[in-house]
Amino acid sequence: MLFIRGTGLGGLLLALGLSTANAHSWVEQLTVIAPNGTFVGATGYPRGNVQRTAAGFSDTDMTYLIPPNGRANQSEILPTDKMCKDSQQMYQQTEGNPRLQASAGAAIALRFQENGHVTLPGTQPGKPANRGTVYVYGTTEPKADEKLLDVHRVWNRDGTGGDRRGVLLSEQNFDDGRCYQINSGNISEHRQAEFPHVADQTMGADLWCQQDIALPANAPSGKPYTLYWVWDWPTAPGVTEALPNGKQEIYTTCIDVDVVDNATTAATHTFVKAGAADYVEDQPLDKASIPSQFAEIMGSRPAVGGGESSQPVPSPSSTAPAAASPVSLPNLLRTFLPLPSPPRNCASVILNTLTH
Ligand SMILES: *[C@@H]1O[C@H](CO)[C@@H](O)[C@H](O)[C@H]1NC(C)=O
Ligand SMILES: *[C@@H]1O[C@H](CO)[C@@H](O)[C@H](O)[C@H]1NC(C)=O
Ligand SMILES: *[C@@H]1O[C@H](CO)[C@@H](O)[C@H](O)[C@H]1NC(C)=O
Ligand SMILES: *[C@@H]1O[C@H](CO)[C@@H](O)[C@H](O)[C@H]1NC(C)=O
Repeated sequence: MLFIRGTGLGGLLLALGLSTANAHSWVEQLTVIAPNGTFVGATGYPRGNVQRTAAGFSDTDMTYLIPPNGRANQSEILPTDKMCKDSQQMYQQTEGNPRLQASAGAAIALRFQENGHVTLPGTQPGKPANRGTVYVYGTTEPKADEKLLDVHRVWNRDGTGGDRRGVLLSEQNFDDGRCYQINSGNISEHRQAEFPHVADQTMGADLWCQQDIALPANAPSGKPYTLYWVWDWPTAPGVTEALPNGKQEIYTTCIDVDVVDNATTAATHTFVKAGAADYVEDQPLDKASIPSQFAEIMGSRPAVGGGESSQPVPSPSSTAPAAASPVSLPNLLRTFLPLPSPPRNCASVILNTLTH
């Protein structure tokens, strides 16, 4: 029995020729990555998480935009702009959405939906070709009123940036080179063929995007370690009449991970000694990390406030290996009807931000 949940609904509508709209993106889930590159163990969630399947769910339950809608100057980020959404400013998990448990040094996948930002690039003119840049900052000393400008583009790999409370753990393209929402655009269709996977309860038929990071090897056990995910997604000036000066558009998700000694699986324990060579090629894509990102974190695991490595930013994985199982997703999708679920519904927000 196969159920395709809400995550696949928009794709189904598009596949049927109905219109759906871009929704925004946030980190939906975290998972530990085993030394062979496969997701293992229990899923973790951001602070204040609201699942898409929750009654009355709206994207605004999870999105946090800087600068906020309504600011007269949409290019202006203020020193008072907070890093985290109201519901994510404290250590705070909602029922049924626990923190990820991981050992120091563990590799972790942060996963998010592309919602057309990757596969329908024509929807929003003036956006960067890499679909924006995603950053993960880490700290053992988060502040409840953390300010974006105290962290973003300030904390660095070495931990010597700004007030030195944290580090830049990762900087990647929003487009991980594989991810797609099912739609009839040529990018999606190309990727559906190149990166097939069996539809599952979590992703539906879509393939979510991911950013793979490693916790610092010296993150103290028995405490939460805080991650700030920042998606920098500006519009260039002079591309549309509506935005002659362009604009800033940044979304964040704030997350804690429980750093534990008793790692949930033997795999996470042995991770610290593993190497990129352990990555199993041609594994099912539902649970596979991105090879290029995995290789990068194996080669460089920054330490809290004292890592020596300062890796260049890699280019996206455009040559990632294809999956083993050649399932035709469009056909599979058409065979099953989705369960009722909340539709993607922030078209109006996007229109507003585009036209104001
Ligand atoms: C809007 O803010 C940006 C960034 O601070 C600034 O460069 C620009 O001059 C401002 N525009 C106006 C019209 O004030
Ligand atoms: C999709 O179509 C556009 C416009 O025709 C083209 O530039 C692009 O290369 C195509 N991409 C793929 C993956 O086929
Ligand atoms: C690991 O230890 C922590 C703290 O003692 C505990 O809360 C947690 O349940 C343990 N996890 C496992 C998988 O045993
Ligand atoms: C990778 O290792 C994990 C944990 O040992 C295991 O569950 C998984 O099946 C392995 N993946 C592959 C593709 O062999």
